[in-house]
Amino acid sequence: MTNAGAAFAYIDAMARLHAILYISSAVHVPTPHEIEHVLQRARERNARAGVTGLLLHDDGHFMQYIEGPPEGLLAIYDIILADPLHHRIQELMSESIGEREFDGWEMAYEQAALPAFLTGPRPELALKASAQHLLRDVWASHSHHH
Ligand SMILES: Cc1cc2nc3c(=O)[nH]c(=O)nc-3n(C[C@H](O)[C@H](O)[C@H](O)COP(=O)(O)O)c2cc1C
Repeated sequence: MTNAGAAFAYIDAMARLHAILYISSAVHVPTPHEIEHVLQRARERNARAGVTGLLLHDDGHFMQYIEGPPEGLLAIYDIILADPLHHRIQELMSESIGEREFDGWEMAYEQAALPAFLTGPRPELALKASAQHLLRDVWASHSHHH
């Protein structure tokens, strides 16, 4: 490979972005203190891993979107999966993306009502498009900063 080819391969690897969207249930309705702890730890680690995203919480139901370089993102996802605060984690989307949706947000947070199809017994039936749409809607409807 030429030097230019190697440089382009390197830049391409650096630029690759992956995104994951999942829903989960808390083992108990988390206290504001527990949410604060999750967000504080999440924001520290996400900043180091180059991960950004949004966490939605609705009375013990979570929906989270995370995006970033694949290696850092998967490391963060493993930490999330291992957190005993929640279970019944259902992945709705895992795919390469062209650009970030939440650039600059180490982890945005909103308390928002999730539709029944996401919190019901068969949320895996939820269409990925609906979930992504919902995510954008919720975020767009909150203009304040965190
Ligand atoms: C719904 C939910 C979302 C989370 N999101 C993240 C995240 O984006 N980044 C992260 O590093 N950890 C995330 N976590 C994990 C927690 O931040 C962390 O592991 C937990 O607060 C334990 O803290 P500790 O590191 O002090 O033991 C999440 C956990 C839950 C339940």
